[in-house]
Amino acid sequence: MYIRNGELVIISGVKKYLKKNIFRSMKFRIIMLVALAGIVPVLIMRGVFLNSYEKCAVRVRTAEIQNQCTILSNQLSSSGYLTGDISEVMRTELVQLSNIYSGRVMVIDGAFKIQEDTYDMDKGKTIVSGNVIRCFQDKGTSEYNRKNRYIEVTAPIIGKDDAVVGVLLVSAPTDSVLDSLEILRNKADVVALATILVIMMIAVLAGIAMLKPFRCITESISAVTEGYDDNYLHENTYTETIELSEAFNKMSGRMKTLDDSKNEFVSNVSHELKTPLTSMKVLADSLLLQEDAPVELYKEFMGDMSEEIERENKIINDLLSLVKMDKTANNANTMNIKSENMNELVEKILKRLRPIAATRNIELVYESIRPVTAEVDEMKISLAISNLVENAIKYNKDNGWVHVTLNADHKNCYIEVADSGIGIPAEAQEHIFERFYRVDKSHSREIGGTGLGLAIARSAVVMHRGAIKVFSQPSEGTTFTVRIPLNYVS
Ligand SMILES: Nc1ncnc2c1ncn2[C@@H]1O[C@H](COP(=O)(O)OP(=O)(O)OP(=O)(O)O)[C@@H](O)[C@H]1O
Ligand SMILES: [Mg+2]
Repeated sequence: MYIRNGELVIISGVKKYLKKNIFRSMKFRIIMLVALAGIVPVLIMRGVFLNSYEKCAVRVRTAEIQNQCTILSNQLSSSGYLTGDISEVMRTELVQLSNIYSGRVMVIDGAFKIQEDTYDMDKGKTIVSGNVIRCFQDKGTSEYNRKNRYIEVTAPIIGKDDAVVGVLLVSAPTDSVLDSLEILRNKADVVALATILVIMMIAVLAGIAMLKPFRCITESISAVTEGYDDNYLHENTYTETIELSEAFNKMSGRMKTLDDSKNEFVSNVSHELKTPLTSMKVLADSLLLQEDAPVELYKEFMGDMSEEIERENKIINDLLSLVKMDKTANNANTMNIKSENMNELVEKILKRLRPIAATRNIELVYESIRPVTAEVDEMKISLAISNLVENAIKYNKDNGWVHVTLNADHKNCYIEVADSGIGIPAEAQEHIFERFYRVDKSHSREIGGTGLGLAIARSAVVMHRGAIKVFSQPSEGTTFTVRIPLNYVS
C-alpha cells in the first residue's frame, strides 16, 4: 500500500488478487471445502432434529387425546346418550376434556347431527366430515393438520349390538407443541451458528496450515529468481510437496549446471581468443625491442603472427558457426533444407581434404554403398562431416588411413568415419562433444585445435534429428558414426 494524493491506494496486484484470484486461490477452496463439509451436516442435523421433535410431540399429544376420547366415548355408551340424552355429569366431563386441551369437543349422533358442542356454536347442525364418516364405518381416526395447527381425533360410541351409534370428535390446537418447537428452534439456531463459527475458524486455520508448505516452496522459487544459490527445497509434509521439491531441485540443479557451463564457456572463449593475441604481442614486442633486427627475423616473426591471426580467425569462425546453430536450434525456420545427393556432398568434402591427408601420407578411402538422397541443410551437414574427417586426419599417425563409408536404409542415411589414429581414452569419450574440450591439451595445441569441431558437428546432426556416436580404442583408432533421417522432420 502507498499514499498518493492523500488517498490510500492498494497496489493493483493486491486488488486484482482480491477481485479475480480469490476464487482460484487454493486456500479459499480448501476453506470452502472444509466449511461445506462441516456446515452442511450441521444444517441437515438441525432440520432432522426439529422435524423429529415435532412429529414425536404431535404423536404423544394425539395418543393422549385418543385415550381420553376412548374413555369418554365408553362413558357415553354406558350413560344416557343412547336414549338421546346426555347427563349433566357427562356434559361436565366433555367440558373438562375441552379445557384440558383448549380444544373443542363434539358429540355426533347416527344422523350426523351435533348433539353436544363445547363451543355451543353448532349444536343441532349436521356435520359431514371425512373423519366422522370413517369413524361411523370403521373405528376412531386421528389427523394432524399442520397448516392450521390442530389435531382432530374421533372415537366411536358403541351401541347395544356393537354398532356405532355416535361419534365423539375432539379438535385440539397444537400451539403448545409449536411453542416448544419454536423455543427449541431458537436454541438449535444458536448451537448451529456457534458450530458453524467454530467450523469456519477450523477451516481457515486448516487452510493456512495445509498451504504452509506451498508458501515455503513459493518463497524458495522467488529466492531462486533473484539469483541462484544453493537453495534446495526439502518440503516433506505431503507426497505432492516432496514431488514438487524434487522437481524444483532438479530444475534448480539443471539451471545451475547451465549457468556454470555458460560461465565456463565464456571463460574458455576469452582464454582461447586471448592466447593468439598474447603470442602476437610477444612477437611484436620482441621485434620492437631489437634496434636493428635482421629482415629474416622480421619475416619469421611476421610468419608466426600470420599463423596466430589465422588461428584467431578460425576460433571466431567456429564460434560464429556454433552461435548460428544455437539460434537455428531454437527456430527451425532458419534451416535451409533441400534434397541433396549425399554421395556428391561427401565426395566434395573429401576432395578438399585429400591434399591435407597427402602431406602426412594418410590414405583417404571413400566407400559409397548405395546412392543416397537426403533432405538436409547442406552447409551444416558439410560442416559436421568435414570436422569428423579433419579430426580423423589430424589425430592420425603418419602413413595411416581414413575410411569414410556412406550407406542408407529406407529411413536413415549412415556416415561412418574410421581412422587408424591415436584413439580416444574411454573416460574422455563422453566429453569430446563439449565445447573447448580437448583430450590432450598440449598435444592438441601442437596439432592446432580449439575443441569446437565436434561440438559443431553434434549440433548440426542433432538439428537434423539425427545421432552421432563414437567408438575408439587408444592407439588403435577411432570410428564416428552419424545417422541422419532421409526425410527432414521439423
Ligand atoms: N578421430 C579422432 N581421434 C582421436 N582423438 C580425436 C578424434 N577426434 C577428436 N578427437 C579428440 O577430441 C577432441 C575434440 O575434438 P574437436 O574436433 O572438438 O576439437 P579440436 O579438433 O581439438 O579443435 P577444432 O576441431 O575446433 O579445430 C580433440 O582435441 C581430440 O583430442
Ligand atoms: Mg576438430
